[in-house]
Amino acid sequence: MTPCTPLSLVGLLLLSQCSSGSVEVLTQRNADFAARLYRAVSSRTDDNVFLSTFTLSAGLLALVSATNGSTQEQLLRGLGLTGLDPQTLPDLFQNLRSPVTNLRQGVAVLPAQGVVVAPSYLDLVQTKFGANVQSLAYTAPQEATDTINSWAQERTGDQVQDLVTKLDPNTQLLLATAAFYKAQFSPSFNASFTQDERFYVGRYLVVVVPMMFRAGKFFLAYDGSLKVGVLKLPMAGDAAMLVLLPDEGVDVTAVEQEVTGEKIQTWIRQLKRTKLEVQLPRFLLERSYSLRDVLQTLGIQQVFQEDAETSSLGGVRLTQVYHKSVVSVDESSDDIVTGGGASASSTLPPRLTVNRPFIFIIYQQTSGGVLSVGRVIDPSRK
Ligand SMILES: *[C@@H]1O[C@H](CO)[C@@H](O)[C@H](O)[C@H]1NC(C)=O
Ligand SMILES: *[C@@H]1O[C@H](CO)[C@@H](O)[C@H](O)[C@H]1NC(C)=O
Repeated sequence: MTPCTPLSLVGLLLLSQCSSGSVEVLTQRNADFAARLYRAVSSRTDDNVFLSTFTLSAGLLALVSATNGSTQEQLLRGLGLTGLDPQTLPDLFQNLRSPVTNLRQGVAVLPAQGVVVAPSYLDLVQTKFGANVQSLAYTAPQEATDTINSWAQERTGDQVQDLVTKLDPNTQLLLATAAFYKAQFSPSFNASFTQDERFYVGRYLVVVVPMMFRAGKFFLAYDGSLKVGVLKLPMAGDAAMLVLLPDEGVDVTAVEQEVTGEKIQTWIRQLKRTKLEVQLPRFLLERSYSLRDVLQTLGIQQVFQEDAETSSLGGVRLTQVYHKSVVSVDESSDDIVTGGGASASSTLPPRLTVNRPFIFIIYQQTSGGVLSVGRVIDPSRK
């Protein structure tokens, strides 16, 4: 663990106190958890993956604040937050929230009607985590479904629809998380250079997709042991996307099992400025997950069981964690001046063509905080 170094961080982070429970520590731990969750989810599917891990952290931290005793201890362990004082987590998390742009998200703690919610909890969840607490009559599952879905739609500017489909009338408590991330590269890709090109989904499957193009200076690294190229694409605000492109013939699943919070930091440190032509497919992913089983494999179990200690929520157990998120990656921008397209230089720079399955990580450049992790197997599908 690196020591507390507030001087390496700018702006609001300086305002927070540099104690053992610093914002920096929480940021690192969240990045570790994001990577673990991503590995657990992606190992269960061959499909595209997208997780707004920041949104999920908000929801799970809101849950930590509702629990006590061994349920809370286990939750903290599962989230990789042991050693951090649960009392300080809400304030720390509030500091992480404010610099995040282009993310529209909703986090809701949804107990069944009749569950006694501590008034102090209501207030805490709203102010620190930007989350909603609402009691729902699950005995009328269709109405509860409609309520949750219209809430998610409203929080994400209509981008996330049908967050939940079939609710159990015996539901006691749900955690619902929805997110829409609009990637706005800066400099952006110029749409007049976008062309349909081949993308090699697998050995026997090729799709033709709109491939964006930009020539210019990029930050690039290469991890020789994993045989993966790492490209950074800066975005509006403080965010950036890391694209992890395995060498031809290297399976993306072999790379992703090595993704950890620490690896992400290492790759970022190794990036070097270089002249490059980049081709990246346009894509829009819409992914939906029920995370109970996955969270249990990460050691978060008691909160789902009969003996759950959820003192701020009447001691009921958690029934399910829903997560649905959308990411849109295209040429759109609010740049005043966009990057040029074809470069006029006499020697052609090398070209990096992202035309096979890749992993992407969206993070905050100042803090290193991870916002989302995904994998594109087939960019022609959601
Ligand atoms: C958790 O909170 C409940 C309700 O306030 C209480 O009955 C229980 O003893 C607490 N558990 C621990 C381990 O403090
Ligand atoms: C995109 O490229 C075309 C062709 O070079 C150029 O005319 C146009 O101004 C560019 N658009 C932007 C927004 O830079």
